[in-house]
Amino acid sequence: MLFDLEPKSRREDLYDFETELRDLINGIINDKVIVVRGLRRTGKTSLMRVALNEVGYPYVYLDVRFAGRPRQIDLIELIRRGLEDFLARNKSIINRVRDAISRVRWIRVGGIADTCGD
Ligand SMILES: Nc1ncnc2c1ncn2[C@@H]1O[C@H](COP(=O)(O)OP(=O)(O)O)[C@@H](O)[C@H]1O
Ligand SMILES: [Mg+2]
Repeated sequence: MLFDLEPKSRREDLYDFETELRDLINGIINDKVIVVRGLRRTGKTSLMRVALNEVGYPYVYLDVRFAGRPRQIDLIELIRRGLEDFLARNKSIINRVRDAISRVRWIRVGGIADTCGD
């Protein structure tokens, strides 16, 4: 919805950012670090969210705006929320990791050589 006050996440809700969206998608694919600069409320977060969704790479979103100087617990909480959001958005990845781990053949190194699994 175009007039939603929240940042947009879908391409069809993003207005008049074709060039910026193309540049950002190219940057995500080809560059290591990308900085999106602009005044507040001009659509940076929306542009970034749409680009990430369009590219389809897995990502962890961390909003590092703090009211004051962050304490260690604030940083831990930030990462926890980022990972929780990632896991909620990537259930298929989690299932693939779980599946891969279930098929790992464990080999103990040191002491008596030993294998277990199927
Ligand atoms: N190009 C755009 N298309 C659609 N909505 C936009 C656009 N630019 C800004 N907005 C809207 O304006 C508000 C601020 O956008 P946001 O992405 O949070 O900006 P920023 O991160 O630069 O502060 C949100 O309601 C967002 O949906
Ligand atoms: Mg923002």
